[in-house]
Amino acid sequence: MADLAIIGGTGLTRLKNLKIEHREVLHTPYGEPSGPLAHGTLCGTEVVFLARHGTGHTIPPHRVNYRANLWALHHIGVRRVVAVAAVGGIDPDLKPGDLAFPDQIIDYTYGREQTFYGDDASEVRHIDFTSPYCAGLREALIDGARQAGIQAMPQGTYGATQGPRLETAAEIDRMHRDGCDMVGMTGMPEAALARELGLCYATCAVIANHAAGRGDSVGEISMQEIEQNLNTGMERVRRLFETVIPSLPGLHC
Ligand code: HPA
Repeated sequence: MADLAIIGGTGLTRLKNLKIEHREVLHTPYGEPSGPLAHGTLCGTEVVFLARHGTGHTIPPHRVNYRANLWALHHIGVRRVVAVAAVGGIDPDLKPGDLAFPDQIIDYTYGREQTFYGDDASEVRHIDFTSPYCAGLREALIDGARQAGIQAMPQGTYGATQGPRLETAAEIDRMHRDGCDMVGMTGMPEAALARELGLCYATCAVIANHAAGRGDSVGEISMQEIEQNLNTGMERVRRLFETVIPSLPGLHC
């Protein structure tokens, strides 16, 4: 049984080097996950892969059933989750195509189902979320990137926005003042739900573009540019996984 799951985001609807053994369709008490769980091996390690936006990339960030996705992974016995997520870079050191391993989150999303403890008033629970990501898994990813010679920022604050539109330049200025280093649309409630289930969860962010109003080319953010940068970034993610995945099952966290 796989201990490790990878949730793929925009630009990673499938893992090229994952040898898929079978696909599992699961129905959960929270509805349908984004798609079937693909069970297979990656670099000799058992892994489950789930495309966050669906296999055909049809589910926008605010419509992803985060609860069903996390519940399904937990239900089949997964204990660690690496979430791959496209982001816009706010910190000037984050260049398109780079990777980043955020250590903090600010949540600007709204109207999403954000807890497993909301429906049943008999159980009010408050999880600790001081450090929203699993420290051991983050360390493993950071070390792996170093070993593989991949340009990556080892920490940073992920600002989660509602989407699906990109932000205004003023919104990005405000997020920068708040302390955000990167902006994405899927980081929450995914991280909080993983914590509620006791899963060890870390994000590998891929810089798709300079956030609105940032970078040298002031003007519109082109979808073509995002796609090109994601191709570069996802190639790095695949290389990172080759280095890091074999070491994960022995990880104590
Ligand atoms: N903003 C929000 N989400 C994103 C961006 C962005 O600029 N780029 C990729 N995902």
